[in-house]
Amino acid sequence: MLDEIEALRRQALAQIAAVDQLQALEELRVRHLGRRSRLRELMAQLGALPADQRPAAGSAAGGAQKALQEALDQRKTALQEAAEAGATPDLTLPGHRPLSGRLHPLHSLAEELSSIFQRLGFTVVDGPEIEDEYHNFDALNTPADHPARDLHATFYLEGGGLLRTQTSTVQIRVMETTPPPVRIVAPGRCYRRDAVDATHHFAFHQIEGLCVDRQVSLADLKGTLVAMGRQVLDPQTRVRFRPHFFPFTEPSVEYDFSCSLCRGEDRGCRVCKGTGWIEIGGAGMVHPAVFTSVGYDPEQYTGFAFGIGIERIAMIRHGIDDIRLFLDSDLRFTRQF
Ligand code: PHE
Repeated sequence: MLDEIEALRRQALAQIAAVDQLQALEELRVRHLGRRSRLRELMAQLGALPADQRPAAGSAAGGAQKALQEALDQRKTALQEAAEAGATPDLTLPGHRPLSGRLHPLHSLAEELSSIFQRLGFTVVDGPEIEDEYHNFDALNTPADHPARDLHATFYLEGGGLLRTQTSTVQIRVMETTPPPVRIVAPGRCYRRDAVDATHHFAFHQIEGLCVDRQVSLADLKGTLVAMGRQVLDPQTRVRFRPHFFPFTEPSVEYDFSCSLCRGEDRGCRVCKGTGWIEIGGAGMVHPAVFTSVGYDPEQYTGFAFGIGIERIAMIRHGIDDIRLFLDSDLRFTRQF
């Protein structure tokens, strides 16, 4: 019996030392000291032992019981203290930096451009991205057989709607509801069925500008674009008009800014490809047919309109060479701005 008691004692002590949960410790107590434990069983048998063995066995059993009880108590205190220490914040640990969001670079540039135009007297307006053929094409003097209306160029929606291909739609929406004079800019997203590459995306951003009043001229258009370029890219910006065609302006131009990186002095400039000029967008004088479609009198009013490619300006400004990065889900790009 002495051997068995000693074995029980050693086994139980080892288990108590290994346990690291209060719950498991309580289970050990029941198993080794409880009413149905082996130790209790042995103690109950003490009376049946021969008298000369009884005292030794009795004191071994009592000693084991005491040792286990002490070990259990100590372990319990230790585990309780550890749990409390864990619950107390360690003020020496480094903190968690709160996550703070920021504006997307295209959004903040659109806001910057909008505020430049606001200082020039323009009001910022909004228009829908889901449009109808009338506002995107017909009212803009774009005939049914124009290539831009092709299924391969425009995203048509079931039920007759489409995703606007240009912010020029907002010209119509504003003139339909506002008598002249008007002076608005409309930033927003546009969609075209372009194959995606480093300089084209099916979703991109423009700012539309429209100024209608008596005696507005092409010189006013140029002055406005020069003022914009000088504030957003380079204080020495010059603007160049190249003849172009848009159905809703006459005359129509594409306009370039002088290169803000090399100012025309680097034959190998990667921004202007050595030409000294960078294409920014299309513009022109509002076509009389557009005025007629919104009920303005083309004999009394003239106006200019322009479109700005927001991605273009952002790419020039930040030296970005791939338009796809703007809509990439990899935040390492956007976090730089
Ligand atoms: N909407 C034209 C485009 O997306 C740009 C433009 C705007 C041209 C206003 C003339 C006047 O290419």
